[in-house]
Parts: sequence; structure tokens; C-alpha cells
Amino acid sequence: MSTAGSRRSVGSKTKRAAAVTLAAAGLVTVAACGAGRGDTGGVTTGSAGTGSETPTVQTVLLAAAVHAAGEHTSGKSVNCRKVKCVALTFDDGPGEHTDELLNHLAKYNARATFYVVGQNVAASPDIVRRTAEAGHEIGSHSWSHRDLTTLSAADLRADLDRTEKAIEDATGVAPKTMRPPYGAFNETVRKTSPLPVVLWSVDTEDWRYRDSARVVRKAKSVSPGGIVLFHDIHPTTVNAIPQVLESLSKRGYHFVTVSQLFGGKPPKVVYSGAPEAATAL
Ligand code: NI
Repeated sequence: MSTAGSRRSVGSKTKRAAAVTLAAAGLVTVAACGAGRGDTGGVTTGSAGTGSETPTVQTVLLAAAVHAAGEHTSGKSVNCRKVKCVALTFDDGPGEHTDELLNHLAKYNARATFYVVGQNVAASPDIVRRTAEAGHEIGSHSWSHRDLTTLSAADLRADLDRTEKAIEDATGVAPKTMRPPYGAFNETVRKTSPLPVVLWSVDTEDWRYRDSARVVRKAKSVSPGGIVLFHDIHPTTVNAIPQVLESLSKRGYHFVTVSQLFGGKPPKVVYSGAPEAATAL
């Protein structure tokens, strides 16, 4: 178990290093194009090896690009009333594919929200801590994924408190939003939950159809202010994310957490942060 884990970790690091090298090579190619020397301007794998031989220039260029992207894409300065934002959300983890997902998100400097199951957090606190440290929001998805509408107010409160504590123990930060399992909530849930209830505007149905191309297609249907529902426990979902990020980036979307989508103050029940939806909640 630990051997497999460390092997995966090393693999991820290698992939990340390769991606950084490719990105650096791409920047250098673009610079060469600007000077009239390049031909296609595209990133080619062939240049990745030689690109790493002049780290000084590349490192500076890459650092500048990452810094600019950070401020532009998901920094605290993002105002979702003025720019196109989307909140990608991942339920039911953490799971064995969460690490890979974090790598995908990092490449686009994207922030996301993870609605984690309390008992999974207690079993794997490290990955939840790393997720939070990477700038993502950790939300509550209850302790054991029961239908919360079947619980008494007292049992519900105990379930949510226990989940909140597990998240706080793992990350040092209490969750700011919650998503009820199955999206099922009633008046008792709404009144008892100390946290805003966050639903979604786009359901990728990734749990039903384990088909990456379909997940990408569904996610691309989002409109500004949307909240997209995924489940990072499925490899077909995690494999779809690079294409989702690439496609929505090209359309000018900023990837923010649910709390960021609402400027830090989500209303009591939310389906999206779209301006037209805000008045209806
Ligand atoms: Ni769920």
C-alpha cells in the first residue's frame, strides 16, 4: 500500500516536472515567434529536452507567467460580478484519484471545491490537507453519505458537527459550505445546517455514465456563475478534467471556489452564482 502510494507520488512529480518543462519550452517558442524565428508557435515534445538546458531564462519567464495567471485566474482579486466564473465541485472523496486531480487543477492554476465525506476524511486526512493547502475549498458532504432528509434535527446536527470536526482536524480550517448527499434537503436540513446548502447548476452525471468524453461535453454546457457537479472517485471523471479546464479557459472562464463565486458570502441555499439566479434565492 505505501509502496504503491510512493510510486504514484513519484510518477506525479515526474509528470509535473515534464509539464513545467513543456510549458517553459512553449514560452520560449512563443518568444522566438515574436522575434520572427519560430515556425508554428506550438509546443513540441521534441523541444522539451533541450529546453531544460537554459533554465535561467525559462524559469524567469515561467515564474512570470504563473504569477500573472495566478492573479488573473483565481486570486482573491477575482470579481465574479465582472468576469466569467465557474465553480467546479467534486463530491464523495477523498479517493485514490484525488491526487491526480490536484495535479490537473494546478496546471491551470484552477481552484475548486471538494465536498468530502467525513469518514473518508478521517481515513485519509493527508490528501484533504494537501487539497486545502493547494488553495481549494473543502466543504462538508456529511459523515457517511446518508440521505439527510431521513434524519432527526438532532441526528443531523451531530452528523454535520462530526464531519466539520474531521475537516477541521485535517486542514485546520472549518468548512464554509455543505452539500447534502443526493442533493436531498428539506426544511429541517435547511434550518439545521449551520452552513449554506450548495447544490449545482450542471450535473455531469459522471457517476452514472463512466465516459470521459460525455463528462467533458456536459461540463462545457455551463454558463457564467455556474456550479458544476463531478465526483473525483471515478477515474473517468479525473481523466476528463484537463479537457474541461482547457475548453473553459479558452472561453475566458475563471475557476473559483464556491465561496469565491459568492464573494465569500454564499446565501443559505444556492444552485449557482449566476446574476439572474441571485435574485431568485
Ligand atoms: Ni455524494
